[in-house]
Amino acid sequence: MTSDRAKRIIDILQQGQPDEQVTVQGWVRTKRESKGFSFMELNDGSFMANLQVVINADLPDYEVVIKKINTGASVEVVGTLVTSQGKGQRIELRAASITVFGEADPETYPLQKKRHSFEFLRSIGHLRARTNTLSAVFRVRNACAAAIHQFFQERGFLWIHAPIITANDCEGAGELFTVTSLDLQKLPQTADQKVDFTQDFFGKKAYLTVSGQLQAEVMAMAFRDVYTFGPTFRAENSNTSRHLAEFWMVEPEMAFCNLQGNMDLAEDFLKYVFKYVLDHCQADMEFFQERIDKTVLATAENIINNQFERLTYTEAIAILQKADKTFEFPVNWGLDLQSEHERYLAEEVFKKPVILTNYPVEIKAFYMRLDEDEKTVAAMDVLAPNIGEIIGGSQREERLDVLERRIIQQGMDPADLWWYLDLRRYGTVPHAGFGLGFERLVQFMTGMGNIRDVIPFPRFPENADF
Ligand code: 4AD
Ligand code: MG
Repeated sequence: MTSDRAKRIIDILQQGQPDEQVTVQGWVRTKRESKGFSFMELNDGSFMANLQVVINADLPDYEVVIKKINTGASVEVVGTLVTSQGKGQRIELRAASITVFGEADPETYPLQKKRHSFEFLRSIGHLRARTNTLSAVFRVRNACAAAIHQFFQERGFLWIHAPIITANDCEGAGELFTVTSLDLQKLPQTADQKVDFTQDFFGKKAYLTVSGQLQAEVMAMAFRDVYTFGPTFRAENSNTSRHLAEFWMVEPEMAFCNLQGNMDLAEDFLKYVFKYVLDHCQADMEFFQERIDKTVLATAENIINNQFERLTYTEAIAILQKADKTFEFPVNWGLDLQSEHERYLAEEVFKKPVILTNYPVEIKAFYMRLDEDEKTVAAMDVLAPNIGEIIGGSQREERLDVLERRIIQQGMDPADLWWYLDLRRYGTVPHAGFGLGFERLVQFMTGMGNIRDVIPFPRFPENADF
C-alpha cells in the first residue's frame, strides 16, 4: 500500500483528466468478465457513482486477480485515467496493477447485486452502509450536521456540550432510562423497601438525558446564544417509523429572545440546512428523488422559497374540526395533536411546514412560559409534511414565582431544580429555544420512510444490535 492516501473516487470522477496516473482504493460493487478484459465498478463511499476500472488480460496474474475481485472485496488499483468510450461515465481507470486486500466469498457475502429490502438491510447493519441508498443517506446526514454547525457558528452561537447522564427529567414525561452501577441481583433497600439510590454511583437516581435544554439554558445565561448537538434518549415504547430510543437533537437557546424570534430562527435554520444540502449533495438528492420519493426536490425548493405558515393551536383546532375527514383521535380543544392531525395540516391544508403556537398548558412541559390567559403557553411546534413534528420549542418561563408554581402543579419537586430556579433568581431574562430531531430532519430531507434507516446504528424496542 502506498503511504500517500489514495485519491477519493469523487475527486477522480469530477476532476480527473485523461493520462493522469492515480491510485484508488475501495470495495468492489460489481465485476463483468469479457473476452480479453474485465470491468470492475469500484466505490469508496465518497460519491454515489462508481469508478469503472478496465482490466486487460495482460495484467500480471490476471486470472488470479479476476477470481478474487468479487462483489464486496477490498482492492487498491494503480493505473491511468482514460476517456470512457462507454456511456454513463466521463472517465474510467485502466488498471496497471491491482492489490486485493480482502476477498468476499460470493456464496456468503449478503450484498449481492440486487435490490434488498430496508428491513433486510437492518439485519446486516454492519454492511448496509456499502449500499447506494444507505451511503447516500449517511452522506446527506453528514452534510446536515455540517450545515447545522455552520449556521450557528456564522451567527455567533456557542456550541455547548450537555451531559449525557443527568438527574433531571427535562420533559417531565417519565420516558427515562436509568443509569446505575448497583448490583441488580442485590439491590440495597431503604427502610420502606425501596431501592436505596443513595448507595448508587451518583448518590441519587440518574438517567440518560432526554434533552440538553436545561443545561443549554444555564449556558445561554452566560453566552446569550448557544446550541447543543448531541445524543438524547427516550424509553418511549413506540414502535413507529418516527421514533428512536436514541436520537440526536439540536437545541439552540437564546437569551433576550421571545417566541417570535424563536420561530424566525427555526425557519431560517431549516431553510439554510436544506439549501446547504442541495448545494453539497446534488447527486445524492437526485438519487432520492429518483429512487425513494419523487417529491424530495420539490419539497426542498418549497422549504427554501416559501414562508412557513404560522398559526395558533386554537386556530388549528378550528381547522381540524371543520376538516372533511375523520380522524382516529377526535379533535377537541385540549387534545395533544397526533401525527395524523399534524400531517393533515402540513400536507393537505397548507402544503408546507406549519408553525403552531400557544398550546394548552396541560399538554406541555413545565418550563414553557405561561400566556396572559393562563390557559396556553408560549410553545411552538414546527410540523413538516410527511413527518409531522420536526421541531418543538418555546419561550421559557423566566418569572421565578410562576415557574415554581408550574413545577409544583406538575407534581415535581422545586428542590430538585434549585439550580434551574437560581437562573430566575439571578439575572433572569426572557429567553427561548427549540429542539430539532436530527433524524427526523434527515428523513424529511431524503424522503426515507423509516427513521431506523437514517441513523447508522438505530436503537429501538428489543433492538440494540451492532
Ligand atoms: O418536542 P421535544 O420533546 O422537545 C424537547 O425535548 C425540548 N427540550 C426541546 C427544546 O425546546 N430545547 O423534542 C424535540 C424534537 C421533536 O420535535 C422531534 O423532532 C424529536 O425531538 N424527537 C424524536 N426524534 C426521534 N425519536 C424520538 N423518540 C423523538 N422524540 C422527540
Ligand atoms: Mg414535542
